[in-house]
Amino acid sequence: MSLLESLKWRSAIKKFDTSKKVSKEDIEVLLTAGNLAPTSGGLQPFKIIIVSNDDLKKKLVAASYEQPQVADASHLLVFAIEQEIDEEIVNRYIKRAEEVRGKGKESLIAYSESMKYFISTMDEATKYTWAKSQAYIALGMVMAAAAEMRIDSCPMEGLVPDKYQEMLDLKSKKLMPVVILPIGYRSENDVHSKEEKIRKIRDNFVIEIK
Ligand SMILES: Cc1cc2nc3c(=O)[nH]c(=O)nc-3n(C[C@H](O)[C@H](O)[C@H](O)COP(=O)(O)O)c2cc1C
Repeated sequence: MSLLESLKWRSAIKKFDTSKKVSKEDIEVLLTAGNLAPTSGGLQPFKIIIVSNDDLKKKLVAASYEQPQVADASHLLVFAIEQEIDEEIVNRYIKRAEEVRGKGKESLIAYSESMKYFISTMDEATKYTWAKSQAYIALGMVMAAAAEMRIDSCPMEGLVPDKYQEMLDLKSKKLMPVVILPIGYRSENDVHSKEEKIRKIRDNFVIEIK
């Protein structure tokens, strides 16, 4: 199947088949796809929390405007951004870069300084938007990878971030949920996935400047 066929196949699933579970191996592929997402400066200012516990998923429905996908899906991925974005995020990146590429690289020192300067130019609201934008790139990558594997998902902003933070004990980790992705397999009764996709016509979507 081509990538476009997979993207046409995917749909924001409202009704999951509660009897079907995504395998551990497939979950790892999806998480790896998320981790491979490019991010600004490579800083990855977010984490993915994976919820598989059925009771917890059920409780989270109340913090998701009663949307049943959260409980019915096999797993729930929660994309949560870092709440404190400062020099430490750069230090952690440099430490990891040294692990992967070796220590003492001049280029890393220059990079570290320029990234710390970049972080220092942002106010709190800008940091929030910046971090959230990075999380959404990973969200897209995970959805595309899932579609290729014929695993269903539903991107959802319909959540109360503070409640999620509390219920998943994320405050102590200084993480704020921004978007969630229930994953699993569509029910035969899902209506949305059987409907024609609504998208802009090409000429209303693309502007060509020659
Ligand atoms: C960032 C984002 C947030 C969304 N939030 C919700 C949501 O809370 N609940 C829901 O049922 N669908 C949600 N959707 C799904 C969209 O309504 C859906 O993607 C859109 O109508 C296009 O349909 P398709 O994804 O099936 O092609 C969200 C989609 C995105 C990308």
